[in-house]
Amino acid sequence: MAGLFITFEGGEGAGKSTQVKRLGEQLQARGREVVLTREPGGSPGAEAIRKLLVEGAASRWDGITEALLHTAARRDHLVKTVWPALEAGKIVISDRFVDSTVAYQGYGHGIDQAVLGALYRAAAGDFRPHLTVIIDVPLDVGLKRAAGRGGAEDRYEGMDRSFHERLRQGFLSLAAAEPARCKIIDGTRGADQVHADVMAVVAPLLV
Ligand code: TMP
Repeated sequence: MAGLFITFEGGEGAGKSTQVKRLGEQLQARGREVVLTREPGGSPGAEAIRKLLVEGAASRWDGITEALLHTAARRDHLVKTVWPALEAGKIVISDRFVDSTVAYQGYGHGIDQAVLGALYRAAAGDFRPHLTVIIDVPLDVGLKRAAGRGGAEDRYEGMDRSFHERLRQGFLSLAAAEPARCKIIDGTRGADQVHADVMAVVAPLLV
């Protein structure tokens, strides 16, 4: 596929969405065709599944059901949005992708990584992001920012503290396992500084 697929990952309140927008604006200003998208969501079908996942009580779904719902949403997102845009040579930037499943359903809920790997392959084959930016913030900073947002999409914020601890460690471990693809950026600083770091890791892909 001709385009470029960049994903942003991190725990609650890491500041991903702001950075996705900033990167998109910057690349558009340089004359690139950019598609901003998100998971769960990013296509009409996947947005419908998103509502099931992010609203309601934390206990609404168990870990396996969540993994299946995220995988169904991911497949629809890839088929309807991501792959056609990449075929057309565009840069696709997604606010979350499969590493969130590894961190939340794997490290958070304890679902076997081999099961998650099989689900991913069923949905996406050997397709992978070209670059994954992981924005890391300590738990208290992230959860405080997320609580300040309000709204109905608070199901994951309702998970207990140890869940969020585990998924943060999960993101750090997967970055250590795949250092060429995954770049960790300190999200505790101002948005401008974080954006500068994001541009530094994206620049080598823009040749
Ligand atoms: P958002 O708040 O960043 O839009 O993401 C929605 C929630 O979905 C967030 O709490 C993380 C969670 N999530 C998973 O648990 N697994 C996944 O595979 C994805 C993409 C998101």
